[in-house]
Amino acid sequence: MPARIYSVATVGLDGISVEVEVDVLSQGLHHFTLVGLPDASVKESRDRVSSAIKNSGFKPPHQNGRITANLAPADLPKQSPAFDLPLALGYLLATKQLDFDHKDKLFLGELALDGVVRRINGVLPAASFAAETGVTELYVPAENAREAALISGVTVYPVKHLFALVKHLSGQERIQAQEREEFNVSQETVYDLDMAEIRGQEHAKRALEIAAAGGHNTILVGPPGSGKTLLARALPSILPALSLSESLEVTKIFSVSGKLPTDTPLFRLRPFRTPHHSASAVSLVGGGTVPKPGEVSLAHRGVLFLDEFAEFPKAVLENLRQPLEDGFVTVSRVKGASRFPARFSLVAAMNPCPCGYAGDPERMCSCSPFQVLRYREKISGPILDRIDLQVSVPRLKVEKLEDSRQGESSADIRIRVERARSIQEQRFVGSAFRTNSEMGPEAIRLYCPLDDESKKLLRGAVENLRLSARSYHRILKVARTIADLSGEKDILRTHIAEALQYRFKSE
Ligand SMILES: Nc1ncnc2c1ncn2[C@@H]1O[C@H](COP(=O)(O)OP(=O)(O)O)[C@@H](O)[C@H]1O
Ligand SMILES: [Mg+2]
Repeated sequence: MPARIYSVATVGLDGISVEVEVDVLSQGLHHFTLVGLPDASVKESRDRVSSAIKNSGFKPPHQNGRITANLAPADLPKQSPAFDLPLALGYLLATKQLDFDHKDKLFLGELALDGVVRRINGVLPAASFAAETGVTELYVPAENAREAALISGVTVYPVKHLFALVKHLSGQERIQAQEREEFNVSQETVYDLDMAEIRGQEHAKRALEIAAAGGHNTILVGPPGSGKTLLARALPSILPALSLSESLEVTKIFSVSGKLPTDTPLFRLRPFRTPHHSASAVSLVGGGTVPKPGEVSLAHRGVLFLDEFAEFPKAVLENLRQPLEDGFVTVSRVKGASRFPARFSLVAAMNPCPCGYAGDPERMCSCSPFQVLRYREKISGPILDRIDLQVSVPRLKVEKLEDSRQGESSADIRIRVERARSIQEQRFVGSAFRTNSEMGPEAIRLYCPLDDESKKLLRGAVENLRLSARSYHRILKVARTIADLSGEKDILRTHIAEALQYRFKSE
């Protein structure tokens, strides 16, 4: 009878059961065969496991006849070193060097050659999987134990060394279970930049308040040094605090990507991601043989800041369409496709022209009209159309910069944002939407009716600014958010008038 140990792999953000079977034939050539893993990983894992077993004081595979280990299901790509630990235990069971009841237990961990158990990625989704499938005991590397213990309903054991685990399982010396920490998410949200520190730029700050309230996307266009980066960096500070379930969603994505800091088992701040314009499509939207989340998913529930927006290759930006529309990305792999959440607030920033000074009242722009046109064309069309708030950020006068009066604090703005969000929550009860920005045409018809006066204003503007049908809907959604911010049930003419200020004229 082969020995059997249970483990878990992650596909996307979901856990999938993996069975590790180990069989020993006492006759035949000494051999250790491992199947069910990609080629390179097989060799590495086999070598690590063999050394760790020997160095933990057990009889190693090369003294034990013919050993076959299988990781099932075979067609699931498993590149993680997390199966080292279950493989070692399976071997020890199969060779009768250890005896314990393997049922209702899950094991995960990479082994160092000396038997020390090393930190791995994706422990949080594995812990969710354990709790959902009724596993009672979860054994993970000690460094991942706090992360695993975020999930209730399963006892987490921190494992430091293979030898210590064997002693625990054979009842000689128990490992202390990891204690769950209580997290109060709404407390201690300290951001590194406050809106109060940004002078002037009232128009842009208001746009960001609307963006935060309705989950809208924003583009900031202005000369170098006008404060675009500063404004974008302040956006997380006015977004509502993450709920516990949102924190877990974000933490799972970072866990799978191997980007979870050791001292932060739970993400409590909204992510702020700033991929460079040289980033590849895969690093932006995710992918790989064993698909990993990209920047759009790492920005989930937070902010994706694309600085120097016009420098991003068009083909790369095209990939943003799906996450912008749907709030998730589909990454195809050999068998089927993985889906990662990607519901973020996009903030794009760019200069108005290559030199940066087109339209500046004091500095001359050195670009030819053709250059300016070419530059703007780069972002025209489908992507710009999908950005709800289009904002000019002019250079500040020195007097304004020297003004010592503090602006409104992020905490105060956040109160208004949270109020507007709770109105939206009630509006969308029972639907898939959370914010106005997510509304489709049907919902827009239902929740954005206009009186005759507002209709007239909007119709006139659409003609004057030569706006597309998509722009028309975007304006209505933004107006809905502006109305929510002022606690108004109906969209009024003033709300439409303000919403129109956040739309560039089509060239
Ligand atoms: N509105 C502002 N209030 C305070 N400081 C500002 C403002 N705008 C610019 N600055 C100063 O100028 C620097 C450059 O601003 P930055 O946001 O990087 O400009 P941009 O991204 O538009 O090129 C900031 O680090 C800050 O010191
Ligand atoms: Mg900048």
